[in-house]
Amino acid sequence: MYGMIHRGIREMVVELKGAEAWSEIEQSCAIGPVELISAVVYDDAMTLAIVGAASQVLEMDVPTCLKHFGRYWIRFAERGSYGALMNFTGQNLTTFIANLDRMHASVALALPQANTPSFSVVGSDGPEIRVRYWSSREGLEPFVVGLLEGLLDRFGEIGTVTQCDAKSNGTDFVITLADT
Ligand code: HEM
Repeated sequence: MYGMIHRGIREMVVELKGAEAWSEIEQSCAIGPVELISAVVYDDAMTLAIVGAASQVLEMDVPTCLKHFGRYWIRFAERGSYGALMNFTGQNLTTFIANLDRMHASVALALPQANTPSFSVVGSDGPEIRVRYWSSREGLEPFVVGLLEGLLDRFGEIGTVTQCDAKSNGTDFVITLADT
């Protein structure tokens, strides 16, 4: 994945555990600044190794670490050069999710090797929003849970995110908004 993902993980680790914890990861994964260039693409195996090492220093299992990172990623992306793009993507949760593929397509203009997932809103019933996620990668569903929780935060909503069983056309997630 692109180095900007690695930079996001670094910021999360430094925020939660300090710069020393990131140095441990650099050593255990044999990486340095060269592996952190935002616009360079690295093998997914490296990204997964960094996530694995981060889960150890943060004392979380890998799915929990991915979920934390998903939630963190929304704040990280808002702060960076793509913050304006996020503002154009939608002013409420449902519209934003419905426009995510267009947003990733805009990101891919700058990062043409990005292999981005697909999201669609497949149902909306009272407090429930059903979101379908499709990816060519496996195992990133906890990251998606965290991302959707991060979007709840972004829009000042309170709710829960539940993952449904995977199907051939993707995995559904149900966001249930709390009565406020
Ligand atoms: C402006 C904000 C964002 C930027 C710049 C961005 C950019 C990227 C990039 C560069 C990748 C890696 C692709 C690759 O290297 O092959 C990626 C992956 C991913 N993005 Fe985004 N993204 C943003 C927001 C979001 C949001 C809001 C969501 C969902 C709520 C999301 C969901 C994902 C997921 C799940 C992946 C992992 C790849 C996969 O599932 O196959 N992203 N994104």
